[in-house]
Amino acid sequence: MTMLMLGVESSCDETAAAVVADGRVMLANVVSSSEQFHKAYGGIVPEIASRKQLEYLLPVCTAALETAGVAPADLTAVAVTHGPGLIGSLVVGLIGAKAFAYVHDLPLIGVNHLEGHLYANWIRLPDDPRPEPMLPALVLVVSGGHAHLVWMQDHGDYRILGRTRDDAPGEALDKAARLLDLGYPGGPAIDWLSREGDPRAIAFPRALLPGTHDFSFSGLKTALAQYLRKTGAGERAPVADIAASFQEAIMTVLVEKLFAAADLLAPAQVVLAGGVAANSRLRALAEARAARDGIPVSLPPRVLCTDNAAMIAAAGYFRALRGEFSEQDLDASASLPLAE
Ligand code: KG4
Ligand code: ZN
Repeated sequence: MTMLMLGVESSCDETAAAVVADGRVMLANVVSSSEQFHKAYGGIVPEIASRKQLEYLLPVCTAALETAGVAPADLTAVAVTHGPGLIGSLVVGLIGAKAFAYVHDLPLIGVNHLEGHLYANWIRLPDDPRPEPMLPALVLVVSGGHAHLVWMQDHGDYRILGRTRDDAPGEALDKAARLLDLGYPGGPAIDWLSREGDPRAIAFPRALLPGTHDFSFSGLKTALAQYLRKTGAGERAPVADIAASFQEAIMTVLVEKLFAAADLLAPAQVVLAGGVAANSRLRALAEARAARDGIPVSLPPRVLCTDNAAMIAAAGYFRALRGEFSEQDLDASASLPLAE
């Protein structure tokens, strides 16, 4: 029997609801964002984000059910992000999902946001013929808040091999965009601008941290600030070249470290996930390296890289298969770990 999962995601500035069948087929995926209200501040204001979550949650859930043509009684369960993220934002989605599950007598499933990102790789869009990822997989989750290298032995079995010691790659891109006056969020702006830029124009530092699977990106941000301070308008490279060089420094380190780890650990598959996995340069570099090394790589559809609820519903499905349901006293946790 088909399992229909309602997914709810509210960990940051996106309010999202989705209906997914059997963890793979997306029947509806509605994402609303308070992004425009944060632009003036150059970053997310948690108070604004949580207020907007409250405003958007019900319309987004209603739209997802309507689009999918699914009544609450047809659903198998409700999967909801309960961390990590902004606590005020998380609480809104969690309480909403709990109330919905309670009144419709549906089981509740708490999902880790990073686990959700990873399961974006299991969702297939209608014209997407790729096979699903093989396990064990080596997963790189890169977003605005995280850079995690994860060993996924099996569904639900994760071991964190490395993580960023300072900034996340999305955070570094967002901060660089602010320095370059490119607006918020910076990742997509830098991605776009870099297409016209020379990635070799400026030699920004690459922290490879040999001997570990950890990452570090704060030195890169400092290097950019210094470059901008030292160069006057006349001698400065065009902004597209600066953006492309900065992006190149991040993406080459990610790819280098990911495939070095793959070389060591021989996973069945290398997998990318998270908002930064939408980056066109990272995708191109990863695909080229995977072909060279003869390791299959899985990239989520770009629309499912950034925050959405379809990925939460997919992760919830695999939890349901394992009988991992949550109680009504499930808590939100700003720092919920993916694995111990
Ligand atoms: O996964 P996500 O939506 O939210 C978090 O869980 O953090 O990731 C958001 C991050 C932001 O830092 C944004 O700048 C970055 O992902 N991002 C990108 C691209 N699209 C979004 N970074 C690089 N290239 C992109 N195309
Ligand atoms: Zn995310």
